Amino acid sequence: MIVCHCQSISDHDIRAAVDWMRAADPQTLITPGKVYRALGKRADCGGCMPLFLDTLHKAPAFRLPDAPAPLRQTG
Ligand code: FES
Repeated sequence: MIVCHCQSISDHDIRAAVDWMRAADPQTLITPGKVYRALGKRADCGGCMPLFLDTLHKAPAFRLPDAPAPLRQTG
């Protein structure tokens, strides 16, 4: 499904970019701007942002891995 018509970006493209960024850096924060850059494109009209964000948030690799538990309690 095409998500961004200005740049012909599909839901598959977004998930692939998220997978690539997560594999390259497991702690990275993934933003729409980073996805556009990873795909070598730039947003134009912004009309796709609601669907773009929904697709991004539903990508399995979007979430950061859980932070490790603290070694000891303070306070
Ligand atoms: S539809 Fe995505 S920038 Fe216009």
